[in-house]
Amino acid sequence: MGHWSMLVPLLLNCLATNAYTWSNETKEIPEYIVKHSPLVHLYSEELYYPGSIDQYVSRFMMSTADYNLTAPLSLSNLTSSAKEVREKVNDEKAELYLTSREQWQNEEGHEDWLTNYKTNKPNIWNGYISNAYSTLIVVDKPDMDFVDAFWFYFYPYNLGPFVMGRGPFGDHLGDWEHSVVRFNRSSQEPLFLWMSAHGGGAGYTYESMLDQNVLDPKRPAIYSARGTHAQYSSTGRHPHDIPYHMLSDFTDNGDLWDPSLNHVAYVLDEGSEVVYPANGTESGRELELGDWLLFDGHWGNKKLEPQDVRQQWSPFEWRIIDGPRGPLSKNLERKTVCERSKWWNLFKRCHIRQSITLGEGWDATGNKCEILNEYTPAWLLPVTNLVTSGGWVCFWVDRMLS
Ligand SMILES: *[C@@H]1O[C@H](CO)[C@@H](O)[C@H](O)[C@H]1NC(C)=O
Ligand SMILES: *[C@@H]1O[C@H](CO)[C@@H](O)[C@H](O)[C@H]1NC(C)=O
Ligand SMILES: *[C@@H]1O[C@H](CO)[C@@H](O)[C@H](O)[C@H]1NC(C)=O
Ligand SMILES: *[C@@H]1O[C@H](CO)[C@@H](O)[C@H](O)[C@H]1NC(C)=O
Ligand SMILES: *[C@@H]1O[C@H](CO)[C@@H](O)[C@H](O)[C@H]1NC(C)=O
Repeated sequence: MGHWSMLVPLLLNCLATNAYTWSNETKEIPEYIVKHSPLVHLYSEELYYPGSIDQYVSRFMMSTADYNLTAPLSLSNLTSSAKEVREKVNDEKAELYLTSREQWQNEEGHEDWLTNYKTNKPNIWNGYISNAYSTLIVVDKPDMDFVDAFWFYFYPYNLGPFVMGRGPFGDHLGDWEHSVVRFNRSSQEPLFLWMSAHGGGAGYTYESMLDQNVLDPKRPAIYSARGTHAQYSSTGRHPHDIPYHMLSDFTDNGDLWDPSLNHVAYVLDEGSEVVYPANGTESGRELELGDWLLFDGHWGNKKLEPQDVRQQWSPFEWRIIDGPRGPLSKNLERKTVCERSKWWNLFKRCHIRQSITLGEGWDATGNKCEILNEYTPAWLLPVTNLVTSGGWVCFWVDRMLS
């Protein structure tokens, strides 16, 4: 996802103190959940494809700042290895990282096991990737009459963006992105879709995301940006985080992935904070893979030291930063469908857009800004876009009027 949100004082991610436990008792996933899952358009020239989390972890060891557990890892011993390392260093809160046991970069670029573009392209007829599975976590919220279906997508590498021709910055090993479909619990109808992008994200009505893809127009399609895998509702250029389009993501109608065809499923019980494996899914792998979701460390190497030849400083971000934390750190118990708000959204509102043509704040795409379009004559649009830095002023106006 890229941690550009670190540009601003946004410290929410440091609060990862969960007390989740695992149960081997299985729970059922209602059929309507998978039926309404989103598809994902990868970028046409994407080099960093989705990967398989079990193959990925087998190339890593469990590390703290001053200890490496050198045995290879598997999903089923991820959490026990974490515990073992913390016991070794005698610190039950020690910050943990998965550290690569192998070379991951060569003269030509990144190793194939990080990119996967040779092996993990979706099948063009149905969107299936045999070698990469997604992770579904269903959270029942009866007090609000919602059921949330979180879909997590794993990419072994995040290639950060370029700023004015220099970069990339904000690369990391391990990249978790997610989307949420919020259902009306009583009627079982999908209401909203929210998708993550750079520590923030955007929410839309489920309706507005339909009729966009060739494989299954009755399901929504998300656009995953080149390299960063930040997610958007439409194709095009998506400026983010810093003004005047200096930093942009790009999406297009590239390979269409149907993550639901190959997934593992879990149920999180909010009250007891217990995670259950699902039964009744086609894979039936969940029991075998065990309690890996409870791993609360980082899914990739620690930020490289400044003196490392691969590391590089920029005013925006270091070139190679910490791997991110896993699915359970993403505020699954959220009340609104948004994970959290960007810093500019002072009222911490979770705005649900009615149409995919409406961008958000600095993330607005050119003249797709609703207010600008409606009240500005066409000849003036370039000027208003310039002074609003591609729409961040319009974000405020939009907030005041809606
Ligand atoms: C779940 O099953 C595994 C493998 O059979 C076992 O090692 C583990 O202790 C069980 N965990 C719980 C919480 O029952
Ligand atoms: C752990 O392994 C990494 C990567 O091989 C190495 O750079 C680091 O020095 C090791 N740490 C310790 C304490 O041995
Ligand atoms: C984890 O499991 C794998 C596969 O079963 C095994 O090869 C490895 O040694 C185990 N690692 C640890 C740290 O227990
Ligand atoms: C959910 O569905 C029920 C039953 O159809 C309906 O009464 C209620 O208004 C719906 N709630 C939302 C938030 O759509
Ligand atoms: C799933 O588990 C539930 C509760 O343990 C059980 O009633 C149901 O028969 C199981 N379904 C399948 C397909 O195994």
